[in-house]
Amino acid sequence: MPIKVILVAGARPNFMKIAPLWLEIKHFPSYFEPVMLHTGQHYDYEMSNVFFEDLDLPKPDYFLGVGSGTHGEQTARIMTEFEKVLQEEHPNLVIVFGDVNSTLGCSITAKKLLIPVAHVEAGLRSFDMTMPEEINRKVTDAISDILFTPSRDGDENLIYEGVERKQIHFVGNIMIDSLISILRRIDQPYEDKVLKQFGLQKENFVLVTLHRPSNVDNKDNLWNIMNFLSALSLRIPILFPVHPRTKNNINGFGKGFASNGEFKIVEPLRYKEFITLEKCPMFVLTDSGGIQEETTYFNVPCLTLRPNTERPITITLGTNELVSMGNIQEKVELILSKNWKEGSIPELWDGKTAKRIVDILEGMEI
Ligand code: UD1
Repeated sequence: MPIKVILVAGARPNFMKIAPLWLEIKHFPSYFEPVMLHTGQHYDYEMSNVFFEDLDLPKPDYFLGVGSGTHGEQTARIMTEFEKVLQEEHPNLVIVFGDVNSTLGCSITAKKLLIPVAHVEAGLRSFDMTMPEEINRKVTDAISDILFTPSRDGDENLIYEGVERKQIHFVGNIMIDSLISILRRIDQPYEDKVLKQFGLQKENFVLVTLHRPSNVDNKDNLWNIMNFLSALSLRIPILFPVHPRTKNNINGFGKGFASNGEFKIVEPLRYKEFITLEKCPMFVLTDSGGIQEETTYFNVPCLTLRPNTERPITITLGTNELVSMGNIQEKVELILSKNWKEGSIPELWDGKTAKRIVDILEGMEI
């Protein structure tokens, strides 16, 4: 009898993590009966459906439609709806990914029904409990049975927190599996087309993404950042695909935003478009977790507008550096004058993480 496994995704950064594992698990129907569940934490076409299209994912078996809300409301809806699915499906294992509210809500719900949980991307820590994701990471890791880590620092954090060594499996970065796979589909004509569509030239633009509450939910912080970008765009073109949270705030904080430079604010991009642009800018400015990793893979300079990161390997080995509004100008000058560090690709960020996870699960009694 195959083991029934529910794979859970909910928000944009989950989709590139669930895809490689879903596609790999499907190769072993005599061992796994996979069920795909989308909580609906993200629901806009460009935040959700486009990723299923670009990543060759089928329509999920379950879509819970939980939508937006406060953390309490959203997590509670995820738990209530997921519990119904668990009671109907009785899976042998639930697999959760990353650090979003869907990861937290679904892992708690499964564990309360005595269903084993595996966490993919376990062990990352920013040590900043003001980040909702840090709470999600710590709680999920504390209750998960199987912990798949993307880098060795993840193993160390888990061991420090008292997780048993035999529960921890260093498998590498699953998001890089999706990255390598989409790169095979990005040829020169496609790259030329995307650059032309946004009026950009290779290595002569800045790609910006910002959505952390600490940067975009406070009016003064957001306008400081926007004014900085506006001035920078007089020197180098900027493309800023805007997350719904950021867009709501730019529109809601009382005034529209105009710039004299080449400052293009656009809707969120599809995965294939974004990766095409992410591999060839002068640099990236972001507060995302995944983008710190992808730029490290591409050896593209990355400035992360945050006081900390749960992905320190992107700084120690990669091209990433943390910046604040106090030192960002200085760091930008270093990049513009081509004085940035060279990075290298971390261990096991090789496109084979999903295969390693499946091999480990097959060898387990679940
Ligand atoms: C969530 C994750 C964050 C992740 C980010 C990636 C948590 C705690 N946060 O943050 O870790 O980096 O996703 O995008 O899980 N909205 C839409 N359409 C959508 C989704 C959201 O318009 O499809 C708007 C809503 O107004 C919503 C707001 O964006 O209130 C924020 O969405 P939410 O899922 O609460 O958090 P994110 O900021 O996206």
